[in-house]
Amino acid sequence: MNPDFPLKAYLDERKALIDRALEDFLPAGGSDPPLILQAVRYSLFAGGKRIRAILCLAAAEAVGGKAETVMPAACALEMIHGYSLIHDDLPAMDNDDYRRGKLTSHKVYGEGVAILAGDALLTEAFRVLARRKSLSGIPAERILDVSREIAEAAGYQGMVGGQVLDIRAESERIGMEALHEIHRLKTGALLRVSLRAGAILAGAGEAALADLSDYGEKIGLAFQIADDILNVEGDPALLGKGTGSDAARGKITFPSLLGIDASRARAEELVIRAVASLFSFDDSATPLREIARYILVRRS
Ligand code: IPE
Ligand code: IPE
Ligand code: MG
Ligand code: MG
Repeated sequence: MNPDFPLKAYLDERKALIDRALEDFLPAGGSDPPLILQAVRYSLFAGGKRIRAILCLAAAEAVGGKAETVMPAACALEMIHGYSLIHDDLPAMDNDDYRRGKLTSHKVYGEGVAILAGDALLTEAFRVLARRKSLSGIPAERILDVSREIAEAAGYQGMVGGQVLDIRAESERIGMEALHEIHRLKTGALLRVSLRAGAILAGAGEAALADLSDYGEKIGLAFQIADDILNVEGDPALLGKGTGSDAARGKITFPSLLGIDASRARAEELVIRAVASLFSFDDSATPLREIARYILVRRS
């Protein structure tokens, strides 16, 4: 860690900026908002680290762009992530009761509205990307490329595909290779595209984009290994979600295949390699280097 970098203040400040921008995209809607807006806002503003949005902004800055210019894309990524969590918690999937320290959407609004709140967030993300005033000043081709990349990373070739493999794997004794693939798709794809989106919109060259993709792949896997470890030994009060559920469901995870110590060592190695991917970047990539290290020590 770089002791001079104020990581906590940085993350807090970024999170506040992102929350404010999300609030502008999805305002409260007066004193009697429609039920769907209540449900969407309930989950979206329940907290959350906003790490995908933070990565998007930081990637733009690492290639010389400005964070505020790419903020709509950062918000779109958080909307897609929020949708994925609402659906992930449903009884038909992980059947979890708590998320971000609050009851899950289906516990409060019922399954039907929770499914639709997820649908609404997913759809809203692409509306935000396509609004003329959202990413004004950025060439339309870049916005098209980013929209397509986000769709690919979120859809059947990415996160959704990974979620399907993940639920199928509950009834199989999968090995390390299959587990890697699940983690790469269900979690890695969206983290990786968060970096690519920020960088592409900011006009990154091919070499920088390739390095940031590499970094994203590595922290994506490290992030899900850390999530698996936290499910074993995290503090539910800090995490805002239950622990022990993977073991209870007999899920194959990094800790169940390798044990906690070897899982942590694997995540550490990935973070070292992620930071190494940023070798060609100057100080503008300091936040990305520090975020990679934070993934290992995070408690929520
Ligand atoms: C949780 O993601 C689900 C995974 C993909 C591991 P986060 O840990 O980023 O959740 P929030 O957004 O901070 O709640
Ligand atoms: C979540 O994976 C991945 C997505 C939502 C795409 P998990 O099911 O392992 O994450 P948590 O532990 O519920 O947050
Ligand atoms: Mg899941
Ligand atoms: Mg889950």
